[in-house]
Amino acid sequence: MFTARILGTGSYLPEKIVTNTDLEKMMDTSDDWIQKRTGVRERRYVDSGMSTSDLGLRASQRALQSAGLVADDIDFIIFATLSPDYNFPGCGCLLQEKLNIDTVGAMDVRNQCTGFIYSLAVADQFVRTGSYRHILVVGAEVHSTGLEMNTRGRDVAVIFGDGAGAVVVGRSENENRRFLSNHLHSQGKYAKKLWIEAPTSRYHPRLTEKMLHDGRHYPYMDGRFVFKHAVLRLQEAVREALVTNGLEVEDVKLLILHQANLRIAEAVVHLLKISPDRVFNNIQFYGNTTAASIPIALDEAVREHRVKEGEIVVLAAFGSGFTWGATVLRW
Ligand code: ACO
Repeated sequence: MFTARILGTGSYLPEKIVTNTDLEKMMDTSDDWIQKRTGVRERRYVDSGMSTSDLGLRASQRALQSAGLVADDIDFIIFATLSPDYNFPGCGCLLQEKLNIDTVGAMDVRNQCTGFIYSLAVADQFVRTGSYRHILVVGAEVHSTGLEMNTRGRDVAVIFGDGAGAVVVGRSENENRRFLSNHLHSQGKYAKKLWIEAPTSRYHPRLTEKMLHDGRHYPYMDGRFVFKHAVLRLQEAVREALVTNGLEVEDVKLLILHQANLRIAEAVVHLLKISPDRVFNNIQFYGNTTAASIPIALDEAVREHRVKEGEIVVLAAFGSGFTWGATVLRW
């Protein structure tokens, strides 16, 4: 068996900044309401024509550069997204073509906000067993084209933004730099608390005029329910991850929570009694970018030198499914 670590990180955010004040012109909301409930000040939206795999490509190129590798060094791709370019094929295949890497395996992971954590766990297993040497793990989302930009959709629309993050997972030659553990959970009984119902294979046709009229193709969220469960499960996942490795909260140098809502993160930090200066947040500037939020935050934290070689990093996410999980790394 080998050990795996993250060899490089990268991220990409579209240039167009959409502030809360911009949203006030489209729906009955206010900068004050949004900041108080979510912490979000602004988010990025793609220009028309730019897709999730396009964002993923740019983040991947930066991750490759940071790992000191080129596209041909990659022997497997894992792409986490809930907003793929198309229903099928998946974004992994589209990215493989855009990177011009000949016939390497590519898969998509559809675990929403926890997608990147699930993807890292898969990459860790493949590298540890020696199946692959360099795996590109991408989290990317284009939410802006799928939000209901009016007062009916405001509870969800104000939270989400577009973006992409990527890492290269590869063999570690240093025992002091590696994945320590992965922890994955789900609870499908709450699937409809945070979901998009249509188009759906349950009906023929999958999307009707009536569904469009009723907005069943837009995301639905039971905000209070999601908020409570996110706080509970995120702190549970971090504790489980620490106990498994015989670590204490004080041992964690960098905690990155899925950037769901700044108020969720603050509640988790309070429950864990972890020093806020060890927790990295950037939701204020990008909104909730779902599968992309952890790799974007990780990339920024690494570039800001928030963690040094051998220090403990914990990543944790919660999202639709419900799904949640955590990853522990010795950086
Ligand atoms: N702007 C202005 N008003 C709004 C907006 C908005 N964008 N969205 C909803 N409202 C209104 C509601 O219609 C409601 O109005 P009403 O009282 O007239 O019916 C009112 O605001 C509710 O406001 P609060 O009393 O603050 O909300 P509540 O206590 O019910 O819920 C909560 C608070 C849960 C934090 C809520 O703000 C929310 O849904 N937040 C988002 C949940 C979240 O962060 N999910 C994470 C993203 S998913 C993920 O990544 C796992």
